[in-house]
Amino acid sequence: MCGSADQAAVLQTGDGPPGALSFYYGHPDPTAFPLAELLTAAESALQHHTPASLLYGPEQGPPLLLDILCCKLRQDEGLPLTPENLFITAGASQGLDLICRLWARPGDAVLVEAPSYHEAIALLQDYPVQLVAVELDQEGLNVGALDEAISRLRSQQTRIAFLYTIPSFQNPSGVTMSPARRLAVAALAREEQLWIVEDDVYRDLCYEGSVPPSLYEMMEGQGVLRLGSFSKTLAPGLRLGWIVAGPVSVSRLASSGLRRSAGGANPFTAYVVAEFSRAGCLEPHVARLVRLYRARRDAMLEALQTAMPPGVTWTRPQGGFFVWLTLPQSVSARAVLTAAKARGMSFPSGAPFFATGGGEHNIRLPFSYITPPDIARGMDILGQAIRATSA
Ligand SMILES: Cc1ncc(COP(=O)(O)O)c(C=O)c1O
Repeated sequence: MCGSADQAAVLQTGDGPPGALSFYYGHPDPTAFPLAELLTAAESALQHHTPASLLYGPEQGPPLLLDILCCKLRQDEGLPLTPENLFITAGASQGLDLICRLWARPGDAVLVEAPSYHEAIALLQDYPVQLVAVELDQEGLNVGALDEAISRLRSQQTRIAFLYTIPSFQNPSGVTMSPARRLAVAALAREEQLWIVEDDVYRDLCYEGSVPPSLYEMMEGQGVLRLGSFSKTLAPGLRLGWIVAGPVSVSRLASSGLRRSAGGANPFTAYVVAEFSRAGCLEPHVARLVRLYRARRDAMLEALQTAMPPGVTWTRPQGGFFVWLTLPQSVSARAVLTAAKARGMSFPSGAPFFATGGGEHNIRLPFSYITPPDIARGMDILGQAIRATSA
């Protein structure tokens, strides 16, 4: 089928030699896409929701999907939501872009974690804002550093548009912000009247324990815009996500020029996902993904344990797609990348994940779309490359 050739092309494009093992992307596994169920859902969308699914839709998104999401979030997290709290986007990226357009003014500061999701950094850099990095440790955002950054910016009369944080199974670090840190961040944000953009796209992919309550929940919906997405649990090509926010923020998003001109985001895929969910397919599909990705996370941790030389450390994510590796201070990630590429393996080194410098000794390793044997092979090569670079 042409799908498999396309798939191979997508997964092999790291920047490495042809046939190289690419640990480059944060992709879901395309072999896990629920094709038959999506086909049935697409038929239902066309049969039962035309012309609505093929017209410009309501700016906020189709009421059917808003209701479904509302029920899901109430059921999963006990959030007291109504459809007025939800806004459909063409993925979390488009949600962040729209928020930035509406919430930030030229010259504002945007606080980001160090490290943070590199493509969100790139997106924010499209705007005339100043990115200010706040360090992260094993428990998530360093609240003291956050407090200092806010005080410094305020003393310079710099307006802060918002804090962009990925508290659960962070990309790239795999770190989850602890409940205590979340409480402290929420308290500081309340005190400082700081808007928070909470990117929670990995929340449903939890492999152990449970995900702490969101910042949105801790702040009772005040001053938080929370991004969700079907990219990680269904398929990124659907380009569908949502924002959970207060009704005033939702009205602001829905009355943006973008939505007024374009109508709702992706009405057709919104109906496809609504029908997929109405058919009872979403929960069992996510449960299957959790089993698949948990096994891969375990394979990655085991392979690292076997292959890494002394002095290398890594995170142990409880969910999401990524492990974050730290090399000894004497070893540069770029040099390791060159040595790894020569041996047929590539990965993103840490620098692009830092808005204002850093990451020279870090490597992001996804485990989501790579099979356990390839994970073992890749980590073996990486171990050799680190040893060769350290020698
Ligand atoms: C933290 C984070 N936010 C957002 C996205 C992009 O989400 P979407 O495909 O919904 O735009 C990604 C994808 O890698 C991500 O890791």
